[in-house]
Amino acid sequence: MAKSKIFITRQIPKAGIDFLKKKRYQVRVYPKDRIISKRELYAGAKWADALLCLLTDKIDSTFIKKNKHLKIIANFAVGFDNIDLKSATEHGIAVTNTPEVLTEAVAEHSIALLFSLARRVHEGDMFMHKGKYKGWEPMLFLGTQLREKTIGIIGLGRIGKEVAHRCVGLGMKVLYTKRNRDKGFEKRYHAQFVSQPQLLRKSDFVSLHVPLTKGTYHLIDKKELKMMKKTAYIINTSRGPVINEKELVRAIKNKEIAGAALDVFEYEPKVAPGLDKLDNVVLTPHMASATIEARSAMSEMAAKNIDDVLSGKRPLQIVNPDVYKKK
Ligand code: DGY
Repeated sequence: MAKSKIFITRQIPKAGIDFLKKKRYQVRVYPKDRIISKRELYAGAKWADALLCLLTDKIDSTFIKKNKHLKIIANFAVGFDNIDLKSATEHGIAVTNTPEVLTEAVAEHSIALLFSLARRVHEGDMFMHKGKYKGWEPMLFLGTQLREKTIGIIGLGRIGKEVAHRCVGLGMKVLYTKRNRDKGFEKRYHAQFVSQPQLLRKSDFVSLHVPLTKGTYHLIDKKELKMMKKTAYIINTSRGPVINEKELVRAIKNKEIAGAALDVFEYEPKVAPGLDKLDNVVLTPHMASATIEARSAMSEMAAKNIDDVLSGKRPLQIVNPDVYKKK
């Protein structure tokens, strides 16, 4: 019997590809080192039984209607806001993601951004690269000590918890928001469950860890930025549209907050005008999960999800379980 066909929309770490090839699937990887075009995405999917896609691929209802034959859409990411889940479910297509394996990587990157903001690492680095260093100075790049400062975690999921864990190790106090209070977490980390306005008013650093949904779109807008301390910083490793980026630029320019570190952007890959001109803003290119360990594990997990579906099993990381109700 002919083996099922899998289309992968960009080169990913080989672990997953090797796994699929060992299982003797027919695997096609989009060969160019760039985001696949819509035309190429449609052509690849038309050929395939399963699609392994990226957060840069727009899997909307038009795409799904044209590709009803797909058995699974396996996203190479924990977030899946690039996929029209409702439409996939209606058409009986399983959708999976890659949670857990990138938790540490994203939490570590959030901490890297925290340090960069507090100790102005990025500014010092730019200064050195420009050959501006003339010798030690008592007032050069004074930063902020983290010990005894307060971190406000918005969204206490797996990643938010790992960030909190690291911040407690640094001697920081933890405030958090979450749909449901987590008393075990509070006890373990002496953390405090607060409302979002309270968190914004009291935190020295605010770190975002929510998925992008209708409810979290522009969760941080003009009003929320105004609630923050003038000395506070915001860190975003979740999804760009969670912050109104134009308002963020305005708030930083008006010194309503002290700065920001962003790994994700509202109109990715574009950044809001003026953002990249601000010294107190750290920008990284959506690389929070970019460790060899995490990306290899994501590759393997996406591949296993595909193998499960193609061999008639329910995949572990299913994000639209309702798809099985209809079958
Ligand atoms: C995700 O997985 O959603 C990250 O944004 C990319 O790894």
